[in-house]
Amino acid sequence: MTTFSEPQPTPLALLLLGHDADPDTERGVECPGELPPVSDPDLIADVRRFKEALGDRLFILGHHYQRDEVIQFADVTGDSFKLAQQAAARPEAEFIVFCGVHFMAESADILTADDQAVILPDLAAGCSMADMADIAQVEDAWRVIAEAGLADSTIPITYMNSTAAIKAFTGRNGGAVCTSSNARQSLEWAFGEGERVLFLPDQHLGRNTAVRDLGLDLSDCVVYDPHRPGGGLSPEALRDAKMVLWRGHCSVHGRFMPDEVDEARRRIPGVNVLVHPECRYEVVEKADRVGSTEYIIKTIAEAEPGSAWVVGTELNLVRRLALQHPDKSISFLDRSVCFCSTMNRIDLPHLHRSLELLASGTVENRIVVDDEVARWARVALDRMLALPGVGAKD
Ligand code: 13P
Ligand code: SF4
Repeated sequence: MTTFSEPQPTPLALLLLGHDADPDTERGVECPGELPPVSDPDLIADVRRFKEALGDRLFILGHHYQRDEVIQFADVTGDSFKLAQQAAARPEAEFIVFCGVHFMAESADILTADDQAVILPDLAAGCSMADMADIAQVEDAWRVIAEAGLADSTIPITYMNSTAAIKAFTGRNGGAVCTSSNARQSLEWAFGEGERVLFLPDQHLGRNTAVRDLGLDLSDCVVYDPHRPGGGLSPEALRDAKMVLWRGHCSVHGRFMPDEVDEARRRIPGVNVLVHPECRYEVVEKADRVGSTEYIIKTIAEAEPGSAWVVGTELNLVRRLALQHPDKSISFLDRSVCFCSTMNRIDLPHLHRSLELLASGTVENRIVVDDEVARWARVALDRMLALPGVGAKD
């Protein structure tokens, strides 16, 4: 039996969100233009009016981590997998306003036609996890794997939470995209194609899925650190590994700790612990149920009235679930507040601005993926969408 020790946090250069310009990263770029004040009493009525005026030309997608003030206007809400499917299924919509984060809007642009505009209401809505892997680092890692003579037997799988360039790399090198609702199926597919998987950028989703769903041992997983020469791994370690996990994590889900699960169980006897697979392995091991945001919603909806749940995922979603299910006791796993700051950047004033401009014929904050990148990223996304049995169940 192998013991697991958590690697030290990856050092990340900090860039203030909404300031500075760095279009090559998810980390935040300037958001131009004047926004209406948050206190404007007409915001809701205005957004309703713009939406009505735009009619079927407009389709609004909302990720489950979005604020209620935004979610109320979404035509469809979902996890990242469902939103990708929905974007692909709306060829009639001229404008797709994506209330989510940058990598999701990029995927929507890749999956839609050239004459459909995907709009991200705040360009600074990036993802710190996606920023933990850039394409140059990934190309370097692939060189390291090739020099160890392992490129032909290694299949790259990238989590949806990655740049379009990394998705394209994956498509070009025989791999696929996955989301938290189909990571198991993606890994099963990958092990049918090769002997090991390069999984990026979320080490936790990769480890949790490999060990818990595929029955691999923790010793089959090694962590590739892009900040160390050769990833900090010897060619032998790479060769013997089944899962080469990128050293990245979600800054929201990475906060949940195993002792918080113990404390919740002490505090609420009989409580069910339900967490997202981006949580650390030690947290997931102590939980009763694990799954994507869509799975979490379904599980709570189907739970017995009177049952008690403590949920480890983003706070906007947990709070909404608590309000929607007053017949069940639903509480949050973290001791301190834990919103995803980048998801939260999309607020009512930003949505208002996007729709007001669209209604007056101006498209701002359009997300456009380069054609060649989009072509290969689409290969990787289509491989995911074609996997047998993928869906919003776990
Ligand atoms: P899912 O939407 O796949 O559950 O992922 C959660 C998340 O962190 C999205 O950024
Ligand atoms: Fe990225 Fe985590 Fe926020 Fe999702 S919840 S957008 S993975 S930082």
